[in-house]
Amino acid sequence: MRASAPLPLLTAVLAAATLLSPASAQNLSDTQLDALKDNLWLAAQQTWELGTESQALLESDASPYAVFFNSSLPPPPGNQSLSDPYSYAALAPVLQIAYNAAASRSNSTGPQPVMYAQGGAAGDPASLGVAILLANWTGAPNPPLDVPLNATDPRGVNFGQGVTYARAAAEQLEYLLTVVPRTDDGAISHRIEQVQLWADFTYMVPPFLAYYAVMTSNQSLLQEAYTQIKLYRSYLLDNDEGLWRHILMGNTNVDTGFWSTGNAWAAAGMTRVLATIQRSPWASSMGSEMSDLTTWITDIHSGMYQYLDSDTALFHNYANETDSTNTGRSFLDASSTSLLASTVYRLALLQGIHTHVPDAEKSRKALSASASSNGVPSFSSWGTGDGVGPATSFTATHPSSVSASSLSSSTATSSYSLPTPSAAVGADLSHFSPQMWLTPVVDPYNWAAQGGSSPEGQAFVVEMYAAYRDWVEVGAPGINAAVRLGPGAPVWSVAVAGIMAVAMLVC
Ligand SMILES: *[C@@H]1O[C@H](CO)[C@@H](O)[C@H](O)[C@H]1NC(C)=O
Ligand SMILES: *[C@@H]1O[C@H](CO)[C@@H](O)[C@H](O)[C@H]1NC(C)=O
Ligand SMILES: *[C@@H]1O[C@H](CO)[C@@H](O)[C@H](O)[C@H]1NC(C)=O
Ligand SMILES: *[C@@H]1O[C@H](CO)[C@@H](O)[C@H](O)[C@H]1NC(C)=O
Ligand SMILES: *[C@@H]1O[C@H](CO)[C@@H](O)[C@H](O)[C@H]1NC(C)=O
Ligand SMILES: *[C@@H]1O[C@H](CO)[C@@H](O)[C@H](O)[C@H]1NC(C)=O
Ligand SMILES: *[C@@H]1O[C@H](CO)[C@@H](O)[C@H](O)[C@H]1NC(C)=O
Ligand SMILES: *[C@@H]1O[C@H](CO)[C@@H](O)[C@H](O)[C@H]1NC(C)=O
Repeated sequence: MRASAPLPLLTAVLAAATLLSPASAQNLSDTQLDALKDNLWLAAQQTWELGTESQALLESDASPYAVFFNSSLPPPPGNQSLSDPYSYAALAPVLQIAYNAAASRSNSTGPQPVMYAQGGAAGDPASLGVAILLANWTGAPNPPLDVPLNATDPRGVNFGQGVTYARAAAEQLEYLLTVVPRTDDGAISHRIEQVQLWADFTYMVPPFLAYYAVMTSNQSLLQEAYTQIKLYRSYLLDNDEGLWRHILMGNTNVDTGFWSTGNAWAAAGMTRVLATIQRSPWASSMGSEMSDLTTWITDIHSGMYQYLDSDTALFHNYANETDSTNTGRSFLDASSTSLLASTVYRLALLQGIHTHVPDAEKSRKALSASASSNGVPSFSSWGTGDGVGPATSFTATHPSSVSASSLSSSTATSSYSLPTPSAAVGADLSHFSPQMWLTPVVDPYNWAAQGGSSPEGQAFVVEMYAAYRDWVEVGAPGINAAVRLGPGAPVWSVAVAGIMAVAMLVC
């Protein structure tokens, strides 16, 4: 029989894959992840950093409250829900972030962002909205009425006094729906001063709209979360590449490039909305929306993973700008690599799509590798830039020269205080400083420059590991996706796929 001929080869290929796969398994330890989270906790300051942090901590440490948890939404209300497996203690850091945000707000009534942000984006504060909604839902103490007045605080006197979480969330929603300008067809701007669309918006706003919808039993708002994504995609997607452009419209900051973090923000925001719809009471009537979101996420996966750097399993800062002799904005970036990998595990869990699971595994292992393991440059060869040494505060000056030719030599600067470093638990890792700062990363405040330490990048690793853990828990579905073809696949393609899988594992 013709079909039987390649089978011995296939068997050998599968056996080789099985032997290689567990032997090369690499994980960050809990101690390393804790140090990474400590840095995140102390360094996150901007609205979107705090919002992303709250989401990362939910997914990793209070997962029954995350939309990815495999049970219906909303979660059980109030403190009855806080018995096992729902732990109020696990939620405490997220509630603290919500508290700080609400306490920083003006106590005047009316549409406004949930957290004060000087010169910030209209969309970014909404990333804190899920934490605020959870604080309301679980009956966490609202910010007190007696916050001392402080006239020298740039946020003004009276901030946050007596603002309930429910009111903070409602006014944030109203602000987005009625104050922030829109495109003619209804896409809510990411900026307040002009209509401008950023890929980042997808992570900041639609997941909040969707969560608000399930918390208040309002399906039309869930539909709006989907509609905003659809509108954003219609503007930002480049059909040829399958990738999203970063920033369009408006007269400053326009960035038509395929910024990798922007694509990861978009995929991750869509994944959260997909999960929210799927766990909502309206899942059965929103099949086409779920199917669209699934397609749109997989489009980004296909668009991005074709450009995954084969030596390092990292993306370049701009996905398609892969020329390693270019010393500009196209350095390798571990931030976007982590966030996109998280969406691959999530999509495997939500929709059983495994196409890029081997890619995500390759990236996760590379990012978790010790300096002594094969094929990955050691940490020192990434340069010894800002944020990696035992400094307690610094003005970041990006490395003027690095030994890896593919890295940027930007001299842009940014500044914020670094936390007191934890013990050097990352000493042997390739992609972390001894104090567990992810590297190399794009500067979170300047997307064209390589940065030293990135709070959002720290959060993305936490999200990647939370997704990985959940995926391992249900048996690591799709771990050999490249060799697991459907029953209709011709035998030759199975053999070829097997050979490719082995080649990939060996690389
Ligand atoms: C803010 O709250 C304080 C204390 O409740 C109150 O005295 C003050 O008038 C409030 N300010 C505004 C603008 O509502
Ligand atoms: C606040 O929580 C209560 C339940 O305690 C819920 O009924 C209400 O809808 C929530 N409000 C918002 C804005 O989520
Ligand atoms: C929920 O638990 C917190 C912490 O114990 C407590 O402060 C709060 O009052 C409780 N809320 C409700 C509605 O029981
Ligand atoms: C007032 O707020 C400013 C800025 O947050 C802070 O630096 C200062 O220490 C505060 N002063 C008092 C008396 O709390
Ligand atoms: C759903 O939310 C929208 C936006 O806030 C609001 O206009 C509408 O009245 C809400 N619908 C219901 C049934 O509460
Ligand atoms: C990458 O895509 C951008 C945006 O379309 C384009 O301008 C640029 O030429 C592309 N770069 C490469 C190296 O293909
Ligand atoms: C989610 O829960 C359902 C019902 O308990 C179960 O059939 C399904 O396998 C679970 N999915 C995952 C990915 O755990
Ligand atoms: C990696 O993590 C997974 C999930 O937590 C665990 O099952 C596995 O044993 C770990 N592997 C190693 C080598 O530590």
